[in-house]
Amino acid sequence: MHFSTSLLFNLKPFPMPIFQLKINGKSQMVEADRDTPLLWILRDHVDLVGTKYGCGIGVCGACTVHIDGIANESCRLQVSQLQGMEITTIEGLSEYGTHPVQEAWKEIDVPQCGYCQAGQIMTASAFLKNNPNPTDSQIRNAMHGNICRCASYNSIENAVKVAAEKLS
Ligand code: FES
Ligand code: FES
Repeated sequence: MHFSTSLLFNLKPFPMPIFQLKINGKSQMVEADRDTPLLWILRDHVDLVGTKYGCGIGVCGACTVHIDGIANESCRLQVSQLQGMEITTIEGLSEYGTHPVQEAWKEIDVPQCGYCQAGQIMTASAFLKNNPNPTDSQIRNAMHGNICRCASYNSIENAVKVAAEKLS
């Protein structure tokens, strides 16, 4: 079959769907394919680059955000699943970086290269909301999905304990 050149050039791309998201308390309209991962919406569409890309397949925790207060890996969530939900990133956890978990992280001086730390803090803050007096093993269990290539695990565990004290 033969298509004339003019016919091919007249083809218009399908318009992309528009999604209304609530990110860090603000309503944001984004135009994207339905299956675009939330991680790329945050980083490329609304310029919230504190959320990091690590593995892209839900195993490192670097991209952790809160969805309706629960820690989730943003690389595994599609934009079309998230309308009407409260999305919170590290930028929205507190206005000036003064959330008790962030204060504890500073006090213990947790970060080394820092790459994984936004995800660690988002996991810890969601965990402590429902577990104000965690045991050591509960902390390890809650944090086990967040990998740190600098192996700052002892400092992370200590900082979670300090944060729990601050929150109590
Ligand atoms: S980048 Fe999402 S879990 Fe690793
Ligand atoms: S501080 Fe370097 S990856 Fe965790």
